[in-house]
Amino acid sequence: MLYVLNHPLITHKLTQMRKEETGTKDFKQNLDEIAGLMAYEVCRDLPLRSVHIKTPVCECDTYELEKQIVLIPILRAGLGLVNGINDLIPTAKVGFIGLYRDEETLEPHEYFAKFPSTMPDAVNLVLDPMLATGGSAVAAIDMIKKRGAKAIKLVCLVGAPEGVKAVEAAHPDVDIYLAALDDHLNEKGYIVPGLGDAGDRIFGTK
Ligand code: PRP
Ligand code: URA
Repeated sequence: MLYVLNHPLITHKLTQMRKEETGTKDFKQNLDEIAGLMAYEVCRDLPLRSVHIKTPVCECDTYELEKQIVLIPILRAGLGLVNGINDLIPTAKVGFIGLYRDEETLEPHEYFAKFPSTMPDAVNLVLDPMLATGGSAVAAIDMIKKRGAKAIKLVCLVGAPEGVKAVEAAHPDVDIYLAALDDHLNEKGYIVPGLGDAGDRIFGTK
């Protein structure tokens, strides 16, 4: 299922990120803020378990999160989504997938993987600001499924229809969350209108 989180605050902040003149500091701050806002929606259907507790006033039956949350950023750009979500879910564990996209072939290449042992029973949020051809997201989800992950959600900022289609075809069980669904990919595999190279804009490498 595809969820596009049309919220005025998210749209406004994303517009600031899209602007060519926005520098690294404001780009990262807006990304942090959007990540927090997206987390609220992404976590809407998390399972709860009932617990019996004692408040300062009386005993009562209430609920708490049943499953651990694991955040899995796709390096590098996915790191930009971690802080905003971790602020809301401070008990989340964090795993890492290193993938880079070959600029000629657009194929993803793995260079790093490190996951918490709790991943098979957790709700796993795969994080990457950009869903372009979908090659990186499909490869990342393949990698974590091979290590036993079952409940998986893909959280991206900007997606292209091509990337959404690719993930839906390869992993129909994975819900996709976007702040915006853009128009198309250009001949270099960049999302149009997009926001350029997310990793370079987060880390100031260009
Ligand atoms: C970017 C982006 C995604 C990928 C999306 O990463 O952060 O991981 O491209 O493209 P795809 O959907 O066509 O696979 P990049 O390879 O530029 O690496 P970086 O994060 O280190 O900049
Ligand atoms: N990766 C990016 O960082 N931006 C795009 O538009 C496509 C892939």
